[in-house]
Amino acid sequence: KKISLVGVPMDLGQTRRGVDMGPSAIRYAGVIERLEHLKYDVEDNGDIIIGRAERLHNPNERLKNLKLVAEGNEKLAEKVDKILENGDFPLVLGGDHSIAIGTLAGVAKHYSNLGVIWYDAHGDLNTEETSPSGNIHGTPLAASLGFGNPVLTNLHGYGPKIKPENVVVIGARALDEGEKELIKEQGIKVYTMHEIDRLGMAKVMEEAISYLKDKTDGVHLSLDLDGLDPIDAPGVGTPVMGGISYRESHLAMEMLAESEIITSAEFVEVNPILDERNRTAKVAVALMGSLFGEKLA
Ligand code: ARG
Ligand code: MN
Ligand code: MN
Ligand code: MN
Repeated sequence: KKISLVGVPMDLGQTRRGVDMGPSAIRYAGVIERLEHLKYDVEDNGDIIIGRAERLHNPNERLKNLKLVAEGNEKLAEKVDKILENGDFPLVLGGDHSIAIGTLAGVAKHYSNLGVIWYDAHGDLNTEETSPSGNIHGTPLAASLGFGNPVLTNLHGYGPKIKPENVVVIGARALDEGEKELIKEQGIKVYTMHEIDRLGMAKVMEEAISYLKDKTDGVHLSLDLDGLDPIDAPGVGTPVMGGISYRESHLAMEMLAESEIITSAEFVEVNPILDERNRTAKVAVALMGSLFGEKLA
């Protein structure tokens, strides 16, 4: 099986510069060597070209840099679509989490019931109306479910991409009011830090896997490095204390590897400018090692 890498140097979905260097930082941390060591054939497609914001964002627009974010995501969707047409495994490197809109747009049309595991401190379930920040990286899960600005919900010519009953959020600890309402209204399965503490990560993953396994025909992993505790992953733009540990995260990835349910993945929000000697990119690469079966290899 071939893993096909795509870098997305996107930083327009939020306001802290540097996350556009995430794909380089992850490559520098040795992602290709790590996966090749596991006997995968790895192809690097290079980076998607992202437009530059020429001037400061227009204050009359609710969502910042909407046009450029949508354009970059459309290119990403086309690329991911082609990777799946070739029968390869798409592995997307971010970039801020707004790129999940493009990844899911490219992935979801290949499945009739795509599952999504959203590993994140945040829900990313804001819409244009509920977003407290106007940052599009706080909206990609809602957009993929069909909620929000039509430019985002209909990206790549269709929408919604996914169904609420096929989504599992893991690691949430910073949910906005509008997000909590959407979760209740849509019945989205959420394991907050409370459930992770209470049940333990092994039980959470067992439940998440069996929840998705039979009703989906593919599962996308969208892993925001801020799902981890900032002690283990300091190089992120929106850190929230009290997060998932490095060890729990490895366990989660190893259980996903054993389950063999994951059919595409993305690792996002690595910001080397805010990092300590590229630690967060190294954590991302280590987790990819576990996701692709390092323990079993
Ligand atoms: N909920 C906040 C917002 O809407 C933070 C979102 C952070 N998202 C992320 N992908 N790091 O702005
Ligand atoms: Mn997050
Ligand atoms: Mn996120
Ligand atoms: Mn490991």
